[in-house]
Amino acid sequence: MSISYYIIGSGGFAKEVFFYTQKTLGSEYKFGGFIDNNIALKSGLLIEESLFLETIQPNDEVVLFNGIGNPELINKIHLKFKEYNFPNLIYPGILADYSNLKIGFGNIITPNCILTVDIVIGDFNIINLNTTIGHDTQIGNYNVINPGSNISGNVTIGDSNLLGTNCAILQGVSIGSYNKIGASSMVNKSILDHQTMVGIPAKPLLK
Ligand SMILES: CC(C)(COP(=O)(O)OP(=O)(O)OC[C@H]1O[C@@H](n2cnc3c(N)ncnc32)[C@H](O)[C@@H]1OP(=O)(O)O)[C@@H](O)C(=O)NCCC(=O)NCCS
Repeated sequence: MSISYYIIGSGGFAKEVFFYTQKTLGSEYKFGGFIDNNIALKSGLLIEESLFLETIQPNDEVVLFNGIGNPELINKIHLKFKEYNFPNLIYPGILADYSNLKIGFGNIITPNCILTVDIVIGDFNIINLNTTIGHDTQIGNYNVINPGSNISGNVTIGDSNLLGTNCAILQGVSIGSYNKIGASSMVNKSILDHQTMVGIPAKPLLK
């Protein structure tokens, strides 16, 4: 069976996702194009969202991958394309205890990530390059975890958070939902929702 696959978005992260699919998917997968409304980028490989939804019916021979690195948009994408299949795209060769990993769908896990033991991951998360996740950590949905993040053991992360590149989340910390953690910041205390936290240790960003 031949399976067509499409990537949502056509920016930098979407191009990276395309690269990972080329390295990961078998020959039965055929690339259909990038789904985007940015007509400035229009090319043979770009399909407008409305045209895609009108012409490509959801079925087992069509799969989609998220190529957008913005938590709010990822949530909207899920709602808009909820009838379609979004498999996980997990780069081969990452170190993960798959026997105990509980993971939903639509996640993108890119090269050199490490997921140790008893980890729970929901849907539509991006876990990007060189991120480590420690034991018993739970991650909800629509989180974007930028490269080099170190998430310790027993951490709980809600939904739609942005974790800046190289951040450190210390053991046992709970991060609610809709938070932004600054690049290279260190979170050592739990955070509720809708906070932007920066620095070592991370403090609320006051503007
Ligand atoms: C934390 C963050 C979300 C804040 O973004 P923002 O609300 O647009 O804030 P601004 O860029 O306007 O910065 C506001 C202030 O916070 C400071 N600041 C921003 N990010 C910071 C960080 N990570 N650590 C320390 N200070 C930071 C800025 O220097 C600025 O200070 P100033 O007012 O004294 O000049 C953003 O800076 C960030 O770190 N995003 C993550 C980006 C990332 O990981 N990119 C990798 C993509 S692969």
